[in-house]
Amino acid sequence: MAAAAVLAVAGSTLAQGTCRADLDGDGELTVFDFLEFQNLFAAGDLAADFDGDGELTIFDFLEFQNEFVAGCPSEPISLQMAGVPLAEYPHFEATRAFNQGDTVFLAIDPDRFPAIRGVTGDIYIVESRTNLEWASDPSLTDVRGMPQAHTFSALSIDGAEVALTGSETLAAANGLNISTGYDLVVDVDRDGALGDGDYVDGLAVHPADANGFSVFTNISEMGPLTPTMIDSSSSQGVLRLNYPAELASVGPLPIVVIVHGGGHDYRWYDYLQDQLSSWGWVSISVQNDFSGTGNRPLRHTDALIGEQATIAGGVLNGLIDSSRIVWIGHSLGGRECNIGSERLSDGFTPSNYSAEDMVLVSSIAANSIGGGGFEADPGDINYHMIWGSADGDISGSPSSFGGQTIPFRNYDRADGFKHSTYVHGADHNVFNCCGFRNFQGPASTEIGRTEAQQIAKATWTALIKHYGEGNTDAIDYVTRAWDGFKPLGVMDGTTLVHMYRPSTIDGGSRVIDDFQSNPSISQSSSGGSVTVSVSNAAEIRQADTNGSLTWTGSEPSNGMNYAFLSSDDSAGLVFDFNSPSFVEFQVIPSLGDVSGFDHLSFRTCQGTRHPNTIAQLEPVTFNVVLVDGSGTRSTIHVGAYEAGASEPYQRTGAGSGVGWQNEYGTIRIRLSDFLSQGSGLDLTDITAIRFEFAQDDGSTIGRLGLDEIEFTLER
Ligand SMILES: *[C@@H]1O[C@H](CO)[C@@H](O)[C@H](O)[C@H]1NC(C)=O
Ligand SMILES: *[C@@H]1O[C@H](CO)[C@@H](O)[C@H](O)[C@H]1NC(C)=O
Ligand SMILES: *[C@@H]1O[C@H](CO)[C@@H](O)[C@H](O)[C@H]1NC(C)=O
Ligand SMILES: *[C@@H]1O[C@H](CO)[C@@H](O)[C@H](O)[C@H]1NC(C)=O
Repeated sequence: MAAAAVLAVAGSTLAQGTCRADLDGDGELTVFDFLEFQNLFAAGDLAADFDGDGELTIFDFLEFQNEFVAGCPSEPISLQMAGVPLAEYPHFEATRAFNQGDTVFLAIDPDRFPAIRGVTGDIYIVESRTNLEWASDPSLTDVRGMPQAHTFSALSIDGAEVALTGSETLAAANGLNISTGYDLVVDVDRDGALGDGDYVDGLAVHPADANGFSVFTNISEMGPLTPTMIDSSSSQGVLRLNYPAELASVGPLPIVVIVHGGGHDYRWYDYLQDQLSSWGWVSISVQNDFSGTGNRPLRHTDALIGEQATIAGGVLNGLIDSSRIVWIGHSLGGRECNIGSERLSDGFTPSNYSAEDMVLVSSIAANSIGGGGFEADPGDINYHMIWGSADGDISGSPSSFGGQTIPFRNYDRADGFKHSTYVHGADHNVFNCCGFRNFQGPASTEIGRTEAQQIAKATWTALIKHYGEGNTDAIDYVTRAWDGFKPLGVMDGTTLVHMYRPSTIDGGSRVIDDFQSNPSISQSSSGGSVTVSVSNAAEIRQADTNGSLTWTGSEPSNGMNYAFLSSDDSAGLVFDFNSPSFVEFQVIPSLGDVSGFDHLSFRTCQGTRHPNTIAQLEPVTFNVVLVDGSGTRSTIHVGAYEAGASEPYQRTGAGSGVGWQNEYGTIRIRLSDFLSQGSGLDLTDITAIRFEFAQDDGSTIGRLGLDEIEFTLER
């Protein structure tokens, strides 16, 4: 509706068709329109003369009824149609990112949109247009050469999906863009233009969702530009510069500064620098001083900007964009980047740039400690971390080296948009070319350099294109459940656990419980009541303080590596179950209208080495239920999306037993999925979020952590 309003405001050529049956004029056909018809009819008002014969007869009622049943075709109907079918309820997942070669499906739920029943229409895949472009040009041109005729005969969303013919060959890369965006239209009246009563996916309700969907190229491969490498230096010392040979014609381009780890070398990241150049980012990899002050990334960035006229003979002069900066640090270099990010966030301003120019700070297996008064809290700057479960150095062991080796705590401190990429079977030095391999874990799980670097390249490329260039659908690319969707060029068998949280600075999300306040088990941080029937529920500070991953029964926070310093307040809920049980969070009335949000988001993990975890070594799945004020419930099994709480990596050490640290992963469920098949759920009046365990298709036994339960916006 909001999108259609934009069309109208924009001076649309789309006629605002009349919808006679909407007699009370509220834009919806409801029982009140029937009542209004009756009133008009009884009053002898010719507004009820639907057959236009000047008399009020039974035929007017029949005509009113026909138009009511046909629906209110007053404007294009904006909804998400592109996606993939699911094997269970909600039967279809609206998705935004597809890999090149994938089949794109379209579905319209006939229970939610009854007017689609029996319609034969033309399905168009068109080049993505903005709302303004749609308003000025509603004509439809299918990128496939011709539209696809389809009769919408499905009785339910289960089986309603339509495979889009030829979607496997849609163009993906587009110059320096890693994807091409498309809009989808069902042209119901088959007039070749988007108009009244047609269905459209791609009228942006939020600017962040301007495409119907996007097709992504294989981004573990290089882009179109030609990397050029020069060893050079600035006033800050030696560096390896990599820029596209085409820079003079495509610049100015954004910049990346890379900082290596202890015992590493600044010339070990050619794979990454080549990748960045090829996709239009200039990079320098610099020598680390390990000062624990953040000075290396801070000062090298300043020098790169300030001395661009002289570095490498001035090849960059005037051709770098100092308003878009990314740092990537590895191990002790990750520490420098974390601390540098903290200093910028705290207001420290170098000569030639400031915190506002930072697009993203990414650390690879960072040494997680601070130093010199800094905590290594990345602050407000967007943050990413990538880390291997088989790292023999930054291990994740809660006992090691005064908290140096548990970088999830850096993630938990960050306030900007943040992502974590935790890769099973990756060790410390697979993310550079040449460091010694310190793999720790079952040999069969080792993924090695090639695979780890494919994952890293695809992830970084998607993130810099999202945060640095505004590729909106890249967020779907990096946040979907890994088992359901992963980049091209990575192996099916690799396990990866994502965390994602939108920025907490501007309050764009509606937090129901993040456990950061109201430590009582029966009250959420948003002030609602919490009811539990699971066993051993405890609200904990998420620190394994025991130094051992052994499950003793007396440390509920066992395996939690999300807090370390006394100032770290990361908190969550842990519990176990082996029979049908639940945890229910009341949504207080003032928070109950969630119709403006896009997702329900939360993170879950399994409790390492707990008997319930060992009992079934596989992802734990469960049901998520939304309840509304009239008691209507809509239930989704997270397994429908191939999502679940990941089983801990099967590594030994740090005490007896098998299983490494607790791996939080974020699950995001589209709120519209809860409306499938006419669930009747009222998103304007949600009263509870309920997690149900050991029911239906859910796992029968488990030990879980649960955190960051919130309604979020597509941003
Ligand atoms: C990338 O896509 C945007 C639209 O999404 C377009 O404006 C731009 O020209 C594209 N860039 C290239 C290099 O093709
Ligand atoms: C960088 O900052 C220095 C010190 O303020 C200034 O003299 C110089 O002009 C700046 N260079 C650029 C390229 O902004
Ligand atoms: C993606 O690129 C990688 C790296 O070149 C390659 O190994 C892989 O086969 C590609 N996958 C597809 C499906 O193109
Ligand atoms: C800590 O772990 C050890 C085993 O490594 C165990 O003996 C001890 O009881 C544990 N302490 C607590 C408080 O859980």
